[in-house]
Amino acid sequence: MIVLGIESSCDETAAAVCVDGQILSSIVNSQEIHRRFGGVVPELASREHERFLNRIVEQALREAGISTSELDGIAVTQGPGLAGTLLTGVCFAKGLALSLDIPIVGVNHLEAHIFANFLAEPDLKFPFVCLLVSGGHTQLWYVGGLGNYRLLGESRDDAAGEAFDKGARVLGLNYPGGPAIEKLAQNGDPKAVDFPRAFIKTNILEFSFSGLKTALLYFMDGFSPEEGMSLSDVAASYQAAIIDVLVYKLNQAVRQTGVRTCVIAGGVAANKLLRSSVADVLGQDIKVLFPDIALCTDNAAMVGYLGEKYLNDGQNSKISFPIKPNFSLISER
Ligand code: KG4
Ligand code: ZN
Repeated sequence: MIVLGIESSCDETAAAVCVDGQILSSIVNSQEIHRRFGGVVPELASREHERFLNRIVEQALREAGISTSELDGIAVTQGPGLAGTLLTGVCFAKGLALSLDIPIVGVNHLEAHIFANFLAEPDLKFPFVCLLVSGGHTQLWYVGGLGNYRLLGESRDDAAGEAFDKGARVLGLNYPGGPAIEKLAQNGDPKAVDFPRAFIKTNILEFSFSGLKTALLYFMDGFSPEEGMSLSDVAASYQAAIIDVLVYKLNQAVRQTGVRTCVIAGGVAANKLLRSSVADVLGQDIKVLFPDIALCTDNAAMVGYLGEKYLNDGQNSKISFPIKPNFSLISER
């Protein structure tokens, strides 16, 4: 089956062509316009999608060597995400599907992040635990099969990506904060500042990052680089506090469920310290998977891949399907 995937849930305009589970092309345009605002401006993001969608889709088709008349279906992110940006992608996808008279399926963005791991490891077997760490979500999922998900725990407040983004703003770095903090932390001492690690001494599978962000804010109030500590040390310590908790809770989830495989998904999965720490802490007996870096952050390959599975199963959406800005993974499709 030849499926065009479209993603516009936040600030990446993306299109990809997936054929029988293989990605033939994946184009991502990360909107630069938000950098100077320290976060995504929803109205600007919608306008940028409107400006770029057509050419990104054309480029994806061209690179795949596929014409629109060859498409068997379209998969588009239905939610969760920003209402305006979701609308641009969904309206574009519906228009194309109607004009080509082909089926369309609305895809859950979080589910697509999880399934990006099948692109790294096509033989990945259910069940597994997934640590989903993006700009809007920090969740631990038990994944029993396609459409079979149990939430093991999540953040009570900020998501891990949000903690990176907000922390970066405090440190005077640009959006997105994750890569910026990771870069600054490279030569820093992660033990320089003892930032809080919420719930680390408990068995509950929950996260909280708002206290960490406040701790950074207070620390920076009294910070002076002349006193022997550099900004890199602060960034490294802040990054270590986030990653420690993620890895610790993932390990607990794996032990509590008894599964032998875990996967990491979402933008924060691109973080190198997270990648190395998970491997160190979970040990040889647990299989650990990460998608390729380009498939961790938002992309349409994961949308096309998952959409193809649903289309193959005859589970296409009605053309009148709505966007779902708060789409939860366990709600009805
Ligand atoms: O999955 P994603 O691209 O978009 C959402 O669905 O939210 O995740 C974006 C988040 C941002 O908060 C960004 O700062 C974070 O992922 N991120 C990272 C890294 N690359 C992106 N966080 C830590 N280290 C990175 N290398
Ligand atoms: Zn995402």
